[in-house]
Amino acid sequence: MITLNQISKSFGSRVLFENVTVTFNAGNRYGLTGPNGAGKTTLLKIIMDLEDPTSGSVTLPDRVGILRQNIEDFHNDVVLDVVIMGNKRLWDAMKERDSLYEVEMSDDVGMRLGEIEGIIAEEDGYSADSNAEVLLSGMGIPLEYLSKKMNEIPTDMQFRVLLCQALFGEPQALLLDEPTNHLDMESIGWMENFLHNYKGTLIVISHDRHFLNSVTTHIADIDYETVIIYPGNYDDMVVAKTSVRDRTESEAKSKEKKIAQLREFVSRFGAGTRASQVQSRLREISRLQPQELKKSNIQRPYIRFGVTEKAPGKVVLKAEKIAKSYDGNHQVIKNFSLEIMRGDRIGVIGTNGRGKSTLLKMLAQVLSPDHGAVELGHQAILSYFPQNHSEIVDKKGTKTAFDWLKERKPGVYDQDIRSVMGKMLFGGDDAFKPVMALSGGETARLILAGMMLTEHNILILDEPNNHLDLEAVSALGWGLSDYKGTVVVASHDRDLIDTVAQKIIAFEADGVHLFDGTLEEYLVKKAESSK
Ligand SMILES: Nc1ncnc2c1ncn2[C@@H]1O[C@H](COP(=O)(O)OP(=O)(O)OP(=O)(O)O)[C@@H](O)[C@H]1O
Ligand SMILES: [Mg+2]
Repeated sequence: MITLNQISKSFGSRVLFENVTVTFNAGNRYGLTGPNGAGKTTLLKIIMDLEDPTSGSVTLPDRVGILRQNIEDFHNDVVLDVVIMGNKRLWDAMKERDSLYEVEMSDDVGMRLGEIEGIIAEEDGYSADSNAEVLLSGMGIPLEYLSKKMNEIPTDMQFRVLLCQALFGEPQALLLDEPTNHLDMESIGWMENFLHNYKGTLIVISHDRHFLNSVTTHIADIDYETVIIYPGNYDDMVVAKTSVRDRTESEAKSKEKKIAQLREFVSRFGAGTRASQVQSRLREISRLQPQELKKSNIQRPYIRFGVTEKAPGKVVLKAEKIAKSYDGNHQVIKNFSLEIMRGDRIGVIGTNGRGKSTLLKMLAQVLSPDHGAVELGHQAILSYFPQNHSEIVDKKGTKTAFDWLKERKPGVYDQDIRSVMGKMLFGGDDAFKPVMALSGGETARLILAGMMLTEHNILILDEPNNHLDLEAVSALGWGLSDYKGTVVVASHDRDLIDTVAQKIIAFEADGVHLFDGTLEEYLVKKAESSK
């Protein structure tokens, strides 16, 4: 069980939530929802004591597992170690022990080593390796990966490793921040199954409606500056939330009407003889005074991309016999050729680890192929949205969102930046938030704002919908299908590919297929040919 007691959190004048008192019970599976920037990640961090609330307190079970959005932080760590890091006390002790063996032995060092061995024993450290191995093999991670570094294994496997980290030490509560972001449909199905069998208290953040509907027994929704728990899944919550809202709004309206009538009476007779009646009307007015309704935080950005004045040639991008392998042997792309024509809208699909991102990086010319060449056509200018935001948004500096955009386009007018920012929901002071503080979805919105500001006629986007809330994903779908240039977009989101793509590049088990038609047509053809 996890209990929040009168928790409030604000950043400056911005209130995320106020006086939240809720309990999360064991055996229930809670979805934590709310639009980008609502404060979901912040709330998880407060629960984990990784961030202080403005006020209030949290009670937690002893052992809590957490899955955060930071796969990149572990790129250079060995798989088995990453799992053991799930027990911080144990991991810190093991690290310290290793470093003490490096220094010259003295009484102090010997004493400290004794203490550390005590901690390691308490935390069951001598079985840590084998416990971690049991978890990893249970998750379907091949044995040969255990001693590899994280960046040497496929993304979905890295993700499973992080999940093992969260589960290491049998946590009584499990907190997951957007676990489906980097997963293909197959792995998401596996994950749903897995969570159904988890017996502790589960809190999971997600923008994936389908996933939430299948996994959750309750929804904790952040809106109106508070957290409200609704029984049922995501769709149930939407229905309940709308009807509550409608009721409060209509009650507020009828109160307003009543007040107007009373006021009219007061103003007509206020100066006259009916003093006592006027007094009672005035009392009634103050009793009825409607509480100001908090505005919902759900908002939709407006996404439109312009194109360069000069049109590019007919062939805008050409890949000729390109190949790429990692570690010298694992060949991801083999002898692949492609001509992208002006105005093409291409959807790139396929399960994790088959090389979608590798292909997109080569097309975007941020990665060179081992063989072959990628060539931009005449007057073709491209703009790239990487799957990993930190490749273009440096989250460590002190730069503001406004400054970041200004750097994207030298000489641009401030008002043009403000206008694009407004469309992407960075109104008022939000324009000057440090990029370091931006949530996942806000960072994605910032990159898209950059694409709206700058000049191009080809867009290459690698899973741009990760982190984005439902409103933003549908706005992106419209923005891309309205674009007058050429689009290449990789995504696991069927709706997005359906809306945008007229051609498909499919990474299948038997190789890469080019298909001239929509996703729906491709799936029909695939089903027929497998009969
Ligand atoms: N140090 C900070 N200073 C100012 N604002 C901050 C800081 N840290 C976070 N914020 C803001 O608090 C809000 C909540 O952030 P949080 O990461 O919790 O959102 P979220 O609901 O998880 O969003 P997403 O769906 O995009 O992941 C955001 O608007 C973010 O910009
Ligand atoms: Mg978040």
